[in-house]
Amino acid sequence: MDDMSVTATTALDVERVRVDFPYLEELQGGKQVAFLDSAASSQKPRQVLDAMSRFYESSYANVHRGVYRLAERATEELEAAREKVRALLNAESSREVIFVRNATEGLNLVAYSYGLNSLGPGDAVLVTELEHHSNFVPWQYMANRTGASFRMLPLDDNGELRLDRLDEVAGDDAVKVVAVGLTSNSLGTNNPVEQLAEWAHERGAILVCDGAQAAPHRKLDVQALGCDFLAVSGHKMCGPSGAGALWGRAELLERMEPFLLGGHMIRSVGDEVTTWGALPHKFEAGTAPMAEAVGFGAAIDYLAGVGFEAIEQHERALVTYALERLGELPWVTTYGPPPEKRAGIVSFNVEDVHPHDVAQILDLDAVAIRAGHHCCQPLMRKLGVVATNRASFYLYSTAAEVDRLVEGLHRARRMFA
Ligand SMILES: Cc1ncc(COP(=O)(O)O)c(C=O)c1O
Repeated sequence: MDDMSVTATTALDVERVRVDFPYLEELQGGKQVAFLDSAASSQKPRQVLDAMSRFYESSYANVHRGVYRLAERATEELEAAREKVRALLNAESSREVIFVRNATEGLNLVAYSYGLNSLGPGDAVLVTELEHHSNFVPWQYMANRTGASFRMLPLDDNGELRLDRLDEVAGDDAVKVVAVGLTSNSLGTNNPVEQLAEWAHERGAILVCDGAQAAPHRKLDVQALGCDFLAVSGHKMCGPSGAGALWGRAELLERMEPFLLGGHMIRSVGDEVTTWGALPHKFEAGTAPMAEAVGFGAAIDYLAGVGFEAIEQHERALVTYALERLGELPWVTTYGPPPEKRAGIVSFNVEDVHPHDVAQILDLDAVAIRAGHHCCQPLMRKLGVVATNRASFYLYSTAAEVDRLVEGLHRARRMFA
């Protein structure tokens, strides 16, 4: 398959997209880098870098404080970025959109501000075997701290959640929180969050969705998903590091205690008692990641301009092709569901070659993939491995890069096996 066929079937002009990403011009040993680690963090288009430079050059002042024009401009830009996140997630109101540094911080916010105050003995938190540590550890910690029980929904052999086991896993405890990722960063599995949300709500539980790995690749709709919280990271979706967002239902956020204290989240400070600002500011302590939020907003504009549907189709074509090519290699084991049930992520192992060795050999050919446990140690235990290799695709990835990955694997196999 050549790059033209990807373009023809998806309507995403990958060569046109690639021009926007300065990093992709860099040569390593005379070769363009095949950057196949976008699930960890994506590369950035010029449009995002320019928006951040412009903000620093002409709109920079602290927000929500000054009454002078520059400060007002900075505040307007931050709030315009918030509105872009609201639209991206189809949230009802931008009051429900809280800027955080990343998805991890958003999920910790929910664990501390909701979990710590709602859980106790006799309650249960239910997570899945697929979770990234960021949506696993905060809940395990809160369960241990509050005396609640901590339950894990298992996977089937395809890497899909065993919904048929939900009632059994929940047991007799009162499930208060169901925490699930929309897309697995390790297997790429797209999880049935809508169904899990329905199940959670029937039991009076909330559903906390980790959207970090889904938001870069498809249009999300928190109302259709039926979740109660959803966290995303800007840096995985062409935005800068340091800007993410947590969406939460206003009625829950209103009832919750704040997470971090100080700065604009405060309404008034008495000698004895302090009161909190209105949403979303109640959860935004200290100086906001202003330029980062503006960059995040520009990234959302960029992705929307390319089209989420086109991005999803492009990645689906690439992941289908990658699974096909890897499937031709009897010494490669791939993990996870068929392409139609996953995002552009493939985890695999090469027989008798440690994933770190594979990744280092690929780097000699300027192919960048990830090796490790991918912050999913419970999943690695389930798979019976300590680590995997992972190739992940994004809107700038090409079929030729998949070919280079496969060539590199042949080389690794020849050197080690
Ligand atoms: C599914 C998933 N959740 C959460 C995270 C954490 O994201 P961040 O490091 O931006 O907080 C990641 C990052 O790899 C992820 O893939």
